[in-house]
Order: sequence, then C-alpha cells, then structure tokens
Amino acid sequence: MNEQQYKISRKKDFNKIAESLTDNIEYQSSDALLSFGDAIKLLKKIPSQSVSLILTDPPYHSTKKKNIKNDTAFESDKAFLLWMQALIVEWRRILKPNGCIYLFCSSKMAGRIEYLFMEAYNILNHIVWSKPNEPGFDGWKQKMKKESLRQWYPHSERVIFAEPAFEGNLFKVYFANVIKEQRKKCELTMKELTEITGDYGKVNHGGAVSNWEAGRNVPSRTQYQKICEGLIATGKVDVMPLYEDLIRPFEAHSNAVFTDVWDFYSVRPYKGKHPAEKPLDMLEHCIKTSSYEGDIVLDCFAGSGSTAIAALNCQRKSISIELDEKWVEAIKNRLEKYEKGIDEFIKISNSQAIMKLTRTNGKPTSNDKQQLTLF
Ligand SMILES: C[S@@+](CC[C@H](N)C(=O)[O-])C[C@H]1O[C@@H](n2cnc3c(N)ncnc32)[C@H](O)[C@@H]1O
Repeated sequence: MNEQQYKISRKKDFNKIAESLTDNIEYQSSDALLSFGDAIKLLKKIPSQSVSLILTDPPYHSTKKKNIKNDTAFESDKAFLLWMQALIVEWRRILKPNGCIYLFCSSKMAGRIEYLFMEAYNILNHIVWSKPNEPGFDGWKQKMKKESLRQWYPHSERVIFAEPAFEGNLFKVYFANVIKEQRKKCELTMKELTEITGDYGKVNHGGAVSNWEAGRNVPSRTQYQKICEGLIATGKVDVMPLYEDLIRPFEAHSNAVFTDVWDFYSVRPYKGKHPAEKPLDMLEHCIKTSSYEGDIVLDCFAGSGSTAIAALNCQRKSISIELDEKWVEAIKNRLEKYEKGIDEFIKISNSQAIMKLTRTNGKPTSNDKQQLTLF
C-alpha cells in the first residue's frame, strides 16, 4: 500500500517536472526526460522539492578541457564559484527534504565547493574516486614525464555527497526534526515513544528515539510503523508521512564498495565516448545506495547520458539537462534505443574487459550477457 502511494507521488512529481520544462523537452517517456538548455535556467523552472537524487558532473573549470562546453568559460576561480553557488541554491530548492546530492568535481576545486555547500547542506562524505585504469590499459598518465611534475599528480576526482541541512546544524536532518516535532505535539517523552517502539533498553537510556532525534541513525520500517501507530493513537496527529518521504535512503552492503575511497575503473576510450564520461557501475552504485525504486534522479550536466541509463537500469526515473547540442542528440539516440530495448552500451564487465553489450529485448538478461562481444 505504502509502496504504491510513494510511487504514485513520484509519478506526479515527474509529470510536474515535465510540464515545467515543456518548452525545452527533446525526449520524453514515462521514465525519462531530456531537456536541452542551460542548467541554471532550466533548474529554476523545476518545482521545489520534486527530485530525490541529484547525481551530476558539471564542467570542472580547473581541468580546462576545450572539448567540454564551459570548462574554459570562467575567467577566474571566483566566477566559477559564483556560478556554482547559484547551482547549489537551486539544487537545494528542488531536492526533497530527505533527498541527497552527489557532485563530481576536481581535487583542485573540491574544498572550495564543499565550503559553499556547508551553508545549507550536511556534508556526508568527501569521496575520493581514485580512477584506476583496468589492467592492461595504462592511460596517458603512465606515459607522461614524471620528472617534470611540480606537485603530486592529481589523479583522483572528488565526489561531494551531501543532504539538505536544517537550522544550519550538522546532523539536524529532516527526519530528526519531524519526529521531534510530532512527538512533542503528541505530548510524549522520548522514553514513552521508545517504549511504544518496543526498543526501550536495547539502546542506552533515552533509547532509540533520542538517537533518531539527534540524527545519529534512523528507524527500520517496522520501527517507523510502530512510531506512526503510537503517535496516531494519541489522537493528536491524524497522519504521518510515508517512510520514503521522510528517511533519506542509504543502502550499503558488505559485498559492494562501502568506504569513501572508490576504485571503479574509468571508462576506456571508444569511438563516440564523452571526454568526461563516468562509468555506469559507479553511477548505479550511487543510485542504488541513495534512492528508492521509482525515485527521480536528476543530472543537469548529462554529457553522454550515462546517469540516465544508470537510473533506468535501477528502475528509477531520470531527468537529464544538457547544453551541448551534440550531446543532446547523443543522449536522445541512446534513450530511444534503450527504451526500445535495443540499446548498445559500453560496460566494464566483471572480467574487467571492455565489452559492447547489445540488448535485444528489454533489460539486460543473463541470455544477453552471453552475447557480449569484445569491443
Ligand atoms: C563533465 S561533463 C559530464 C559528463 C557526464 N557525467 C558523462 O558521464 O558523460 C559536463 C557536461 O555539462 C555540459 N554543460 C556545460 N555547461 C552546461 C550548462 N550551463 N548547462 C547544461 N549543461 C552544461 C557539457 O556540455 C558537458 O557535456
């Protein structure tokens, strides 16, 4: 029942976003939308609190790549940071209060960007993506003359992982505020609410509720169900928000990367590769960990469209914005093919070779995997 409800609400959000971008839409299906235009201009049109996950990779400015639109456009670091500040404001506005953002950036600019984020977000991690090359492929850094370096070679990229903050207070997350507010409205003490959940004594003193209200951890679905029943039983609140609208998703596993140092292989060069293309497995890792199925994932610097494909692979909805016509066209083709079930995409396989996987029907199946051909 709950699952149905939140998925319906995500569909409504998706439709509202589509309506807001109607003049700029290049591709639209029930799960994917592509808009051509400038990120800030289009973000301003998107309704507030409509997106669950922002996973995006703007021009880095410090890398000065001429083949990436706007990478060399800013005259100074200050101009770039002012632009970034304007984006940060819009991202905060459109994110759901229990949503989060992953922002790719260069090691040179990351500290300054993170500082800008701190105004209105809790920084959850400053992730280091070490960008290894797959075995047998060295990348150009192996060929460069090490003796001419004047500082350590900046091999890593950074990913700022953050959630909206409230009252400018670290750890004061949305869920913590709501639960405290509702508990007080119901005139229950933390001890009483802990007893209702059946967890009194399992966590020291104030029990589970004090940890939740401090933002240290979150209740399970079963615990949340009991909280809702307990609060509603007081007759002082009628309805409680859905779990998926209140708790920021974060599903880590011991059999996947769970630290803040990432070693996903970078995308090996191939004909038609975007100069800054991010690996699908890394994007899927962010999406699976930090969103619920059916959630809306936004990439406003979409490049090759890999975030969109990753979102669809994970059964999420995808919004892409891109300013370079060439890449808008490429994303459009990719989405069309993908949704027709005949997508060809580049994937780093488990055997660490680059493969070209041709799906013949719908989502990749084990049968499709047998059709992998060495690229
Ligand atoms: C670093 S690349 C993103 C690559 C992408 N993550 C991928 O995996 O392919 C940045 C992209 O942002 C686009 N871009 C630059 N300025 C933009 C703007 N103002 N609005 C929207 N897109 C922009 C560039 O054309 C480029 O494709």
